Amino acid sequence: MLKLPGLIDPHVHLREPGAIHKEDFDSGTSAALAGGITVVLAMPNTKPPIFDSNTLDIALSAAKQKARCDYGQYLGAGPENSDWGNHLAAASQSAGLKMYLDSTFGELRLDDMTLWMPHFQNWPKEMPIVAHSESRSMAAAILFAALYDRPIHIAHISLKEEILLIKAAKERGIKVTCEVCPHHLFLSKDDIPSISHGHPGRGEVRPRLATKADVNAMWEHMDVIDCFATDHAPHTVAEKDSENPPPGFPGLETILPLLLTAVHDKRLTLDDLIQKTHINPKRIFNLPDQPETWVEVDEDEQYEVKASEGFTRCGWTPFEGWKVRGRVRKTVLRGQTAFEDGRLKVEAGYGRNIRESAN
Ligand code: DOR
Ligand code: ZN
Repeated sequence: MLKLPGLIDPHVHLREPGAIHKEDFDSGTSAALAGGITVVLAMPNTKPPIFDSNTLDIALSAAKQKARCDYGQYLGAGPENSDWGNHLAAASQSAGLKMYLDSTFGELRLDDMTLWMPHFQNWPKEMPIVAHSESRSMAAAILFAALYDRPIHIAHISLKEEILLIKAAKERGIKVTCEVCPHHLFLSKDDIPSISHGHPGRGEVRPRLATKADVNAMWEHMDVIDCFATDHAPHTVAEKDSENPPPGFPGLETILPLLLTAVHDKRLTLDDLIQKTHINPKRIFNLPDQPETWVEVDEDEQYEVKASEGFTRCGWTPFEGWKVRGRVRKTVLRGQTAFEDGRLKVEAGYGRNIRESAN
């Protein structure tokens, strides 16, 4: 039996408010605990989007009632809410600011660089900024971090040019960190036919699955990767198989077995796994300690991934049928067994906001 610190997932879509048929704070945090994750940071591209103190209250009060693991909630940067100096209370209650600098699912987007500037100017320096920025817009986002002399975290990098750019920026002392998702480590565009089973929407995700050369570049530059994050983006099977399929893959229940399989195959060290799923995200997102919190895994158990055994409401996984090695047996959160042998052991509402002090 292997004991790991509780995983921290800084990139999760929980769909509450507005699309709880896909997921909500209860089902999503249940999936997290089953996956060995004890903190999720929830993205703001909900309906309505989370972008001010009122909408933040809506998400946080749902989370308070329903979350089973600990959580934070991002605010989204929009064209009209950059006046953060007057909204410091909301900023400090959030996980950080999410900036959508490329097109994506949902309404939040900043397509003009003049709209980025006031956010970089006004968002408190000690609070995280996460950018969804692909390729050249990522280069621009990194330039902004340098110009405004503040840290930036780049979400879900997937291309060789992106990891090389981040490596170069780090070497020059720019405060940039990044995350990679399991689907960009374990899948390439060549896998789309086997994920889709004739439903092309199943292979849709943003950033798109990349080439084998891009995937290899991620593995070759493991030292540049700060965090592994799922970008858990649940959409139902019916939605994925529809005429107009939304992009996104679920990932909370598969990240740890996939990474443990890579450890077994000697593609990854256990130390790297712990750094990138716990130590680095805790530092980058300035998260509190979770005392008496750990995950127990049977690292020798081999099993087949089956969506039907999961807690996520979306009902499918791009890793269906994959043989993995390493089963989460037990997740202990703040002294309580929260998940054990396939069953949840804590009630909805047990989870805490990571930005609220313990007392
Ligand atoms: O594939 C994606 N799905 N990429 C995103 O950026 C958004 C996400 C979602 O919310 O479904
Ligand atoms: Zn995302």
